[in-house]
Amino acid sequence: VFENVSTAPADIIFALTAAYKADTDPKKVNLGVGAYRTEEGKPWVLPVVHKADHIMVDDDNLDHEYLPILGLEQFRKASAKLILGADSKAIAEGRVGAAQCISGTGAVYAGAHFLSKHYPFKGAACYISKPTWANHRAIFEGVGIPVLEYPYWDPETKGLDLKGMLGAMEAAPSGSIFLLHPCAHNPTGVDPTPDQWKQIADVMEAKGHFTFFDTAYQGFASGSLDKDAYSVRYFVERGFEMFIAQSFSKNFGLYSERAGNLTIVARTPEIKNTIESQIAKAQRAVISNPPAYGSRVVSLVLNDEKLYGEWEENLSTMANRIIDMRQALFDELTALGTPGSWKHIVDQIGMFSFTGLTTPQVKVLKEKYHVYLTDNGRISMAGLNTKNVKYFAQAVDDVVRN
Ligand code: LMR
Repeated sequence: VFENVSTAPADIIFALTAAYKADTDPKKVNLGVGAYRTEEGKPWVLPVVHKADHIMVDDDNLDHEYLPILGLEQFRKASAKLILGADSKAIAEGRVGAAQCISGTGAVYAGAHFLSKHYPFKGAACYISKPTWANHRAIFEGVGIPVLEYPYWDPETKGLDLKGMLGAMEAAPSGSIFLLHPCAHNPTGVDPTPDQWKQIADVMEAKGHFTFFDTAYQGFASGSLDKDAYSVRYFVERGFEMFIAQSFSKNFGLYSERAGNLTIVARTPEIKNTIESQIAKAQRAVISNPPAYGSRVVSLVLNDEKLYGEWEENLSTMANRIIDMRQALFDELTALGTPGSWKHIVDQIGMFSFTGLTTPQVKVLKEKYHVYLTDNGRISMAGLNTKNVKYFAQAVDDVVRN
């Protein structure tokens, strides 16, 4: 019965990891997936997570019973507090809800699915930044919401195209859905300034657009968890209703544990309860209830002052190594006199750099130099270290010149 089904294309990011693993060249470099690596190029179990692992092993009260459909209560509360702030008025007013989901992807899905069923502006499109994380389009289209793009990256300035972005928001029909990255934009590493966020909020408000934030990199942008939540808290202060998808894959290094949360900021406590009930109903049909392990780790750390402090230190270790690699790459390219300006490498923030390398150049990097990165020229800075940064810079120098 399935002979007419066509083969789906492989996922670009996971296909890159597989190609890298299959490559036997010792010089190979993986700058594809956004996953932290140590100076030795190895995955890192955060020391605070290691500690939490041990606390859990020794805890005889833990079992493997089902979690509630919306997940672990302490995790949901702590996740909402992490992004909205301990002093959030919206939390105090009882209009903030949360659903534990299958990491960031699951949280975007849960919110998108809810909108596909219950958003009152029928046929409204979701606008995603051009470019954005590839899964955004797939998730929204998957639930039947049309996807359109708003300008974001300006290739001339290698910075934010604010004019284009605001123009698209103005032009979109009232009540459109806008997917925004609160910090450390994936893939560009370019974030709006507070003043630019104000201009964005002004248009979003005037047009009655719905705000859907997706944050996977809180703690990687400014060096402060609170500062990285600036845009979200500012929008909440201004009275926006919104969804915020949160991933703990990167900032806790819990990639495979799928720890994520959908924070819901509703107009009233009653509406919050209604939204949660619908998300619970939908979640039951898809995953029944979320996995416990990752959420227990996150919950332990977020709810313990001492462990929280240790987590902040671990986060700085990751963020600072990435900053050092930005500088090292910039210095190498400058020393080589590689044509073009490379200042954006040090100006951009978060885990990625949007290099400006073209798809044909990326192809040569892959085939001749065994360097793996996405076709749009995005590199995961965490894949660089003091041993391979020179090699990578020389490879870039070659592809840019030829
Ligand atoms: C990435 O952008 O590389 C990560 O978010 C991994 C993923 O799921 O695509």
